[in-house]
Amino acid sequence: MKHIHSFSMGLTADGRAVTGYTLYGKNGFRVTISDLGGVIWSMMVPDKTGRLTDVVAGYDSVADLEASSGYLGALIGRFGNRIAGGRFTLDGVEYSLYKNDGDNHLHGGKVGYDSRIWTVACEDDEEPALHLSYLSPDGEEGYPGNLNIKVTYRLREDMALEIRYVATTDKKTVLNLTNHSYFNLGGFASGTVLDHTLQLDVSDYLETDAALIPENIVSVKGTPFDFTTAKTLRQDFWVDDRCQALKIAGGYDHCLCFNGWQSGDKTVRYRGYLEHTESGRRMELYTNQPAVQVYSANFLEDDGNRLKGGLIKSKQIALCLETQCMPDSMNHENFTPCTLDVGEVYDYTTIFKFVNQ
Ligand code: GLA
Repeated sequence: MKHIHSFSMGLTADGRAVTGYTLYGKNGFRVTISDLGGVIWSMMVPDKTGRLTDVVAGYDSVADLEASSGYLGALIGRFGNRIAGGRFTLDGVEYSLYKNDGDNHLHGGKVGYDSRIWTVACEDDEEPALHLSYLSPDGEEGYPGNLNIKVTYRLREDMALEIRYVATTDKKTVLNLTNHSYFNLGGFASGTVLDHTLQLDVSDYLETDAALIPENIVSVKGTPFDFTTAKTLRQDFWVDDRCQALKIAGGYDHCLCFNGWQSGDKTVRYRGYLEHTESGRRMELYTNQPAVQVYSANFLEDDGNRLKGGLIKSKQIALCLETQCMPDSMNHENFTPCTLDVGEVYDYTTIFKFVNQ
């Protein structure tokens, strides 16, 4: 059996060794992941004719990744997305976090899980898996509790990448773990993602202020955020006065809440798909998270740092589907819960499954 190949990816700027792992699935389907940040570096997926293409944006080297920003492909934590003012109160105790996004805290702070080296155990099987673990110490980036995290990436025989996040704590804490892959199903270098079709089983979205801090839960009905019926991302891409929410964010960068999010039900469900019609690649999304941040890479701009193959960064060349709880939820009573108490187990799964049309 040899469904996993590991290799050295060199050193980080501060001298930590980085190892890469390629997991081999069926029909050429393969995914390369590093212990650094659990980053997905590439995802080779066949199209309807069997031709393989890399469907995620990323970097060629650790040095390029470290020189850049954008969390491409990385695991995000302890709390994905934004926390207003980098502050929250839990059981009467106020916690203060690093502000790395203006006055707010974003994606875990100064040194998030995307920059940590995770401990890796390989499960070399027909459905190869990588088990990544990380012990996030009490007080790290200001968060309470030693958080014991295990993330499993598994390549299933049905051409699905399954990501399972399990965590426990020794002190009540908040957490919101996700993966920040930038998908372009025509290939990461194929240009804009706006002609992809998106369908999502959502009922509401979060309206934000100018700093992208969520304020209100609003029905998607009659808005550009209504993806209940499949449509291209371009169709209602109104980054102008027709839609203040899209204008503020310069595109899609919003938390969309799945139908029934209020129920707290933890069943993994089919929630929709992203499709590139020309190649026939369709990626189905399954999750038990209540929401997904749909981000059309509006901050990706040429900053002198190149992507894989020398590709110049530009806006909307990819789409992130970051399954999660509602951002800043600890500061809003009507949002989804985001705390983990001692004795509880955080257990969420997201599956990206490829089916050719
Ligand atoms: C998330 C956020 C975006 C942006 C990216 C990273 O998706 O919602 O606003 O910060 O991460 O660049």
